Amino acid sequence: MNILVTGGAGQLGSYLIDTLSAGHEVRALDIREPVIEEHHPLISHVDIRDQAAVERECEWADGIVHAAAQVSVERSIEEPEVDADINIIGTLSMLKAASLAGVGIFVYISSSAVYGDPKYLPVDEAHPRNPKSPYGISKLTAEEYVRVYGESRDLDYLIIRPFNFYSSRADPGSPYSGVITKFVSNIKAGEPILIEGDGEQTRDFVHALDVAEMVRRSVESQVRNLTMNCGSGKGTSINELAEVLASICENVEIRHVAPRIGDIKHSIADISLVRDFVGFEPKIPLREGLISFFD
Ligand SMILES: NC(=O)c1ccc[n+]([C@@H]2O[C@H](COP(=O)([O-])OP(=O)(O)OC[C@H]3O[C@@H](n4cnc5c(N)ncnc54)[C@H](O)[C@@H]3O)[C@@H](O)[C@H]2O)c1
Repeated sequence: MNILVTGGAGQLGSYLIDTLSAGHEVRALDIREPVIEEHHPLISHVDIRDQAAVERECEWADGIVHAAAQVSVERSIEEPEVDADINIIGTLSMLKAASLAGVGIFVYISSSAVYGDPKYLPVDEAHPRNPKSPYGISKLTAEEYVRVYGESRDLDYLIIRPFNFYSSRADPGSPYSGVITKFVSNIKAGEPILIEGDGEQTRDFVHALDVAEMVRRSVESQVRNLTMNCGSGKGTSINELAEVLASICENVEIRHVAPRIGDIKHSIADISLVRDFVGFEPKIPLREGLISFFD
């Protein structure tokens, strides 16, 4: 299959290129330069909101994995119009281009942010969608466009809702990086790691390579027109995360600071659906994934 990955210079996008290239022709697009040297020839400098350019890119494709996004919850609060423009209008332009090109499958990388505060745990796909941030709203709105566009234009789709993924390919220079990237950066700089609140809040951490593997399996399966969670299926508290890092590295100082306003207390994915439908099982244990930051 010829597969076009959007956001190919990003954390997940770069693993998607590696993973999908094993059995497919892969090209990608992004607005920034890839960090991985070998990915340079594969990535076109294209903004997903540039309709004419994405239509040209999609002509070649049999399948699209749409991972490009404005990914920061904080930035979505500061600049909701930018977030909506990239995540909603950008997704619409990809859908239009995919439909014109007659691609066989459109995979949308959504987010667990669509659920908001969990009403029960683990969170399955039937859980009410109640996003708490403009980012969650834009990811949910884009999902709905994918579903309705897919149904009305005969475009097969899959919607994947990853929980918190991490890897050493996340941008440590970003002011909006995730908790694992922040903790590792601080440890490497000899600074204390700062836990917001009591640290008892839980997250479902899954390695970005596992997410890419789940996407590959889904694309290659017969499963279509379905929404699936992607996570480890386990909750890890921020205190536990800090302890694992302290057991890997020497002299880690842990400090507690004020809780973040509006933070979700617990988040754990129910991954029964993706286990049953595509046989996905996450392979990289958290400790192993964390050790890889210090190789
Ligand atoms: N990181 C997580 O924990 C997490 C969790 C759930 C869902 N997601 C989703 O996974 C996807 C990938 O996230 P990531 O963590 O790899 O982020 P990332 O920031 O590393 O990658 C996103 C890429 O999209 C590109 N991009 C942004 N705007 C663009 C535009 N207008 N045109 C073209 N490219 C553009 C960026 O340059 C970046 O390379 C996103 O859709 C995100 O919403 C991430």
